[in-house]
Amino acid sequence: MDVPCVRVEREAGEETRQALAALELVNKEREIIHEDGALYIPVTDAAAVPEEYDVVERATPARETQTMPADLVEFDVSYERLGEVVLIDEDDPERARELADAIVESDIPVKTVLNRASKIQGETRVRDWEVLAGENTQAVHREYGCEFALDLAAVYFSPRLATERNRVVEQVEPGEQAFDMFAGVGPFVIPFAKRGAQAVGTDINETAIEYLRENAERNGVADSVTAIHGDVRNVVSGTSDQPCESDGVREVVSGYDNWADRIVMNLPHSADEFLDTARELASEDCVLHFYDIQHEDDAFGPGTRAIRNAMEPEYAVDIETKRVVRSYAPHEDNVVLDVRLTRE
Ligand SMILES: C[S@@+](CC[C@H](N)C(=O)[O-])C[C@H]1O[C@@H](n2cnc3c(N)ncnc32)[C@H](O)[C@@H]1O
Repeated sequence: MDVPCVRVEREAGEETRQALAALELVNKEREIIHEDGALYIPVTDAAAVPEEYDVVERATPARETQTMPADLVEFDVSYERLGEVVLIDEDDPERARELADAIVESDIPVKTVLNRASKIQGETRVRDWEVLAGENTQAVHREYGCEFALDLAAVYFSPRLATERNRVVEQVEPGEQAFDMFAGVGPFVIPFAKRGAQAVGTDINETAIEYLRENAERNGVADSVTAIHGDVRNVVSGTSDQPCESDGVREVVSGYDNWADRIVMNLPHSADEFLDTARELASEDCVLHFYDIQHEDDAFGPGTRAIRNAMEPEYAVDIETKRVVRSYAPHEDNVVLDVRLTRE
């Protein structure tokens, strides 16, 4: 089928395609043709093409494959998707701009492109982002049947942990009492509640707790979820007299000692400092999911020793699973220990 195409020398092809894309003139339903050193870029409206371009009529096949960002730039690309938010990690501003444009131009559904602008930092584990396309840093992410609203500039969230989270979720039994000590926007708490658990999440980041409450509503589990803003060490009775905020009401929250059949501790690098609190939370028979980041030579050793030091002799400690979740950095692994604690 003949359609109007802009004909350009191959060397000017990408620049021309981008210029036409900026004018929303690229016909995405037809293939771009390479022939005899020239590129034929199908356009939607020949009359709207600026005069500097050569428009010809020619046959181009209907597009069968989707255009991906990698098809539109000449370097290796990597990105992550969080709903319609695409996350990139480019230090070079020109490369970042080019990749963001390619992502927008591609066929992947995209509302926003964000470039990492700092490392994860501080107690709340949040990083800065540069908005390269779109309006803000808000996202709605879907994971294993749950939906999470969040603002990446205000809370921690990593889509890379989805498989690991689901591995833990699948262990949850209806009626059990599950406590996430570092809950974020609820990627453990919400699916736990969906499986029939009574789930409690604490976080020192107030915005994360607001999102956790919103996400509990969004996923229809608000009745089974308690979201508490504050330092988890203050939540368990006897560890502090500082107030925490539970479900919007400022009060001293207590009563979770000896409560939890399952505890999640996803605060790698410093979870060991919270093991005394985990011991107070644990019921007579409790499973602890302890996340850590360590050198690959002894990735499970420090966590195992810290858990035994904190829990024995009050609890018998049975390390049921040792798993590398992902490589974190060269020679450093993000690992998890599933530990059964049985009161002696
Ligand atoms: C690595 S994030 C994990 C969030 C969530 N569990 C997830 O998998 O996405 C750690 C969370 O712990 C929170 N946090 C740090 N120190 C805390 C404390 N002392 N008490 C409660 N939450 C804390 C941070 O605000 C952050 O949201």
